[in-house]
Amino acid sequence: MTPSDARLDKERAKELLVHIEKLVASNPKESVLGDVVKALNEVPSYSWVGVYRLVGNELVLCAWAGPQATVHTRIPVGKGVCGWAARSGRTEIVSDVSKDSRYLECFTNTKSEIVVPILSEGKVVGELDIDGTALNAYSLIDKQLLEAVAERISTYCKG
Ligand code: SME
Repeated sequence: MTPSDARLDKERAKELLVHIEKLVASNPKESVLGDVVKALNEVPSYSWVGVYRLVGNELVLCAWAGPQATVHTRIPVGKGVCGWAARSGRTEIVSDVSKDSRYLECFTNTKSEIVVPILSEGKVVGELDIDGTALNAYSLIDKQLLEAVAERISTYCKG
């Protein structure tokens, strides 16, 4: 499989959103975020998936799925790609992390990253952070899917 074959397509994105909506509707509140990151981690291009909650001026990791833990469990707003997206409230797609000076390294095999703010009443309450092992792993399809997922889980990220 070449990196471009591994990218998420529209059909799979639609199915995944329906699956995640079911998870959110049927699972106990405490396990929703854990189950959502696991479901997203099934996508071949989503090699590490985390949800951070905004606590004061810091992003705090609250659920993750992937082959290894990250050392970045707390990230100040404004630091890294995550902190940047928390400050702007906008999705960041980094096609090549080696070319982005904001990038905070977690895993040596990460080549691209997408960070999607989770909003509640227009304010950032958290973030979805996804790492990929291929360059240019994320497209508008991922952005739209993950922004929809962020909307579905925002109630579980409020402090
Ligand atoms: N790469 C992120 C830090 C979080 S780890 O990828 C899990 C960043 O630049 O903010």
